[in-house]
Amino acid sequence: MTLSATQKIPSYSEIPDHIAIIMDGNGRWAKQKHLPRIFGHKKGVDTLENVINFCLDEQIKYLTVFAFSTENWRRPIEEVNFLMELFLSLVQAKVTLYHKNNICLRVIGNRNNLSKTLREHIEKAEKLTEKNTAMTFTLALDYGGKWDILQAVNKLFAAEKKEITEADLAANLMLSDIPDPDLYIRTGGEKRISNFMLWQMAYAEFYFTDVLWPDFAREEFDKALNSFKKRERRYGRTSEQLPIEQQRK
Ligand code: FPP
Repeated sequence: MTLSATQKIPSYSEIPDHIAIIMDGNGRWAKQKHLPRIFGHKKGVDTLENVINFCLDEQIKYLTVFAFSTENWRRPIEEVNFLMELFLSLVQAKVTLYHKNNICLRVIGNRNNLSKTLREHIEKAEKLTEKNTAMTFTLALDYGGKWDILQAVNKLFAAEKKEITEADLAANLMLSDIPDPDLYIRTGGEKRISNFMLWQMAYAEFYFTDVLWPDFAREEFDKALNSFKKRERRYGRTSEQLPIEQQRK
């Protein structure tokens, strides 16, 4: 029996290779403090920087965060503009620090609606860091899981593929060259996937916490990792079929 093409590198490791995060709760964090929502996003940037460092400490190879969804354009224009400024400062200024830390920065999503300046800085940042090997940090920006699947299908249509296999589709998705997420974390209490990497998340382990993103500190990150350690990843097998060292229960 062969494994599904989408389970590119099945991980049985106690440490996830790839963590995907929905950083939810910035707005509510600000509201609790009687501050405008943008203060929550500002604090959210600090949390993200900390989480990048936690991942480096733990030698996590891939971190992907959902920074802006295809649906987030529906937010008030002031908030959208503020977020775009934050993304610009990340790819323009913070990228120097990532580069120093040997981090490869990638951006996935539809770039057509982003400003020309942001697009140019994304390209520059990706080029600058493309050979870095400590960790790949991916920003999902104007990204949607449905959009991702459609862009893959459209690429295959353009290549005049008559019949599309699972392997063809997987090979044309964003991040097709790295392992699928092992651990998906969502802060802020909601228990949804919200159109994040729908295909790539097929075998991810889900971890939800009520903690709001700006409060997601090291101890919360460790809780997520500890929860992951206890998961038995069977990929369709029975527990007894797994080598003893991979049985967790
Ligand atoms: C969801 O919380 C958060 C977002 C849609 C934006 C995520 C952005 C950041 C964490 C800022 C920093 C990011 C980068 C990459 C510079 P919400 O605003 O929906 O919170 P709520 O559910 O409490 O309203």
